[in-house]
Amino acid sequence: MVELVKFTVETGVALITVDNPPVNALSAGVPEGIAAAIERAAHDASVSAVVLIGAGRTFVAGADIKQLEEQAHGRGPGAPNIHQLLKSIEDCPKPVVVAIHGTALGGGLELAMAGHYRVASPDAQAGQPEVNLGIIPGAEGTQRLPRLVGVGAAVEMFVSGKSIRAPEAVRLGLFDKIIEGDLKAGAIAFARHVADSGGPHRRTRDRNEKLGSPESNAAILAAGREQARKTRRNMIAPLRVIDAVEAAVTLPFEEGCRREREIVEQCLAGEEARALIHAFFAERAVSKVRGISQETRTHSIRKAGVIGAGTMGGGIAMVLANAGIPVLLKETDRAALDRGMASVRKNYESSVKKGRLTAQEMEERLALIQPQLTYDGFRDADIIIEAVFENMSLKKQVFGEIDRIAKGDCVLATNTSTLDIDEIAGATSRPNMVIGIHFFSPAHVMRLVEVVRGARTDKEVIATAMALTKRLRKLGVLVGNCRGFVGNRMMLPYMREAQCLVEEGATPSQVDQALYDFGMAMGIFAVDDMGGLDLAWRVLQDTKRLTKPGERLYAMGRLGQKTGAGWYRYEDGRTPIRDPEVEALIETTAKQAGIARRSISSEEIIERCLYIMINEGARILDEGFAQRAADIDTIYITGYGFPAYRGGPMWYADTIGLQKIYERILEFQRRHGEYWTAVPLLEQLAHDGQTFAAFDAANEQAVARSRE
Ligand code: CAA
Ligand code: NAI
Repeated sequence: MVELVKFTVETGVALITVDNPPVNALSAGVPEGIAAAIERAAHDASVSAVVLIGAGRTFVAGADIKQLEEQAHGRGPGAPNIHQLLKSIEDCPKPVVVAIHGTALGGGLELAMAGHYRVASPDAQAGQPEVNLGIIPGAEGTQRLPRLVGVGAAVEMFVSGKSIRAPEAVRLGLFDKIIEGDLKAGAIAFARHVADSGGPHRRTRDRNEKLGSPESNAAILAAGREQARKTRRNMIAPLRVIDAVEAAVTLPFEEGCRREREIVEQCLAGEEARALIHAFFAERAVSKVRGISQETRTHSIRKAGVIGAGTMGGGIAMVLANAGIPVLLKETDRAALDRGMASVRKNYESSVKKGRLTAQEMEERLALIQPQLTYDGFRDADIIIEAVFENMSLKKQVFGEIDRIAKGDCVLATNTSTLDIDEIAGATSRPNMVIGIHFFSPAHVMRLVEVVRGARTDKEVIATAMALTKRLRKLGVLVGNCRGFVGNRMMLPYMREAQCLVEEGATPSQVDQALYDFGMAMGIFAVDDMGGLDLAWRVLQDTKRLTKPGERLYAMGRLGQKTGAGWYRYEDGRTPIRDPEVEALIETTAKQAGIARRSISSEEIIERCLYIMINEGARILDEGFAQRAADIDTIYITGYGFPAYRGGPMWYADTIGLQKIYERILEFQRRHGEYWTAVPLLEQLAHDGQTFAAFDAANEQAVARSRE
């Protein structure tokens, strides 16, 4: 059996090393191993101090989320209880110094706070990200962190879930010292020094000096709750974590810990935790592509070419430069090129203003982007990403050109959002090298990228594109080549349904409000106005799904934000204002179509908008254009503002129950016609009492079996 925790003694200091790759999670065996090592150090007369450190890339990154998942689903005992361990560390008669590198997160930071001292590498980070999993820290973190950093800073860390860097941690009192150079050697020296000093080695639980006064705490907690409601809309855990901090400042330590435990258990029993834990693993599963393994060869990307310096091309060039990859940025005319570069510079300047980048870093990145009007240098590019207008004949012409110029192993990528990758690939002599890399707008901000495999794309090219997205700090999800791929394909029926609802009696703002209250970042009409009604018009027209109001607004030139009016009016260019003119127009088109208007409930809005989207998701799965239902969830959470605490559309469907959704679809079919036809996969799963999650699990098992 592998040894999860190692014990050695170096110059009178016990060195306890947690070695549980990849991230030293506190899985079963790890807390027990640390406890045994602490006990041994306490009784070893040759030992005067203890250093607790992590092997590999990081200190402990928290509880084992797999075990939390089992607990949340009532399938297992859950994460090991580490309260006794924390007490034994804090009560250890010899000073315990925790040495942190990488990330001390969740239970990892809680473990560290039980030590008497914390030292860290300069680039170490610490955080309590539990709210991102729909829970609160469960290993006394809500009681110890306020004691070390003060109530205000603790509330900020708990509610935001964001990590802080080592210098900030020192400033706040969370870390005692930054160790330049070798962390282990520095920590041992520090431990010897504190042991020699004789103490006192204070236990964190006894430190009350930063716990504030009732008056100051009342204001901090109220502001924290306000922040939680605003930044973590509709979520429970960010509010409950403040209840636990309130316990820390009003109750003795032990009672505060009890309160914390009760709250964690309540959170773990809720939908929010199950959904967010699903979202955590779903996001990590996307990098696992069937048929591709660690051994699959990838093309190395040292130089890139981007064609088109418009909205997307400029953003893509920035993303490449941000990763240190030199980019040739080609345009057809000087004015467009200058506009593109000016906008790149403006985006960088805004990051400098916000303190996210130094002026020097900005100049270094700009220097990596070479604007030009020719294909000079494209022969050496390892990847060329095309981002010209969305027009098939233009794209084919461009791919014909680059096919003649690019070297044999150059990856040829298109950023098209709707066009057929295979048809584009057909314009080249090497369709196996062609792939879609669909960035979202703004490309330098949005994490999601759909990697679109064509019928003939080589697996090495897929592996290269997936690896590149990771290097660009994006989340690449592999999808198949169908119209709109996964994300936009599911948007269309959703958008159309919302337009039907307004004809039947709702208003755009009522629909958007219901969607917003459900948790969507924006309502669908506001999204349509932002993307441009011309874009939606073209696609809905092509697929014969255009509604009368949509058609009329387009004909009136109300194209959304860019024309100051669409489904809403805009005075400042971006804040939607309800427009009676649009509502009157909708009433007229409804009347002309003989639609009897009625009052429509929020519940109906949510059911119709989401169930039609879920049905399309099932069709995509059935047709094999997404690898997993969970991939669809990741796409919707990271690219379309779907609330993560609902787990994504397919997970949400599971929580409602596929049988119920199927029955509602039948009902909508009776009322609204064949457009509402349940996809066979959904019908089958509903019939079998199954879920999309079970469908994914069964597929993974089948793939694993075929590998054996
Ligand atoms: N438990 C179980 N598995 C974990 C894990 C954890 N805490 N953290 C990461 N992993 C797994 C990932 O699933 C992934 O597995 P696969 O390779 O099989 O997909 C692997 O470790 C590597 O993870 P990443 O791809 O995310 O690696 P990264 O280098 O990009 O990031 C990280 C590393 C910053 C630690 C990131 O993984 C992360 O944020 N992890 C979660 C940290 C967290 O939320 N901790 C709190 C847990 S809750 C808790 O601790 C409750 C409590 O109070 C007791
Ligand atoms: P855009 O209109 O802003 O930019 C296109 C640019 O390509 C223009 O600057 C044009 O001068 C240039 N161009 C045209 N022909 C060229 C050629 N032969 N060589 C070099 N440059 C040429 O368009 P945008 O929005 O950047 O879209 C580009 C592609 O990205 C399209 O395929 C679009 O569907 C896709 N896309 C767009 C998104 C968006 O939200 N704007 C999101 C995701 C994908």
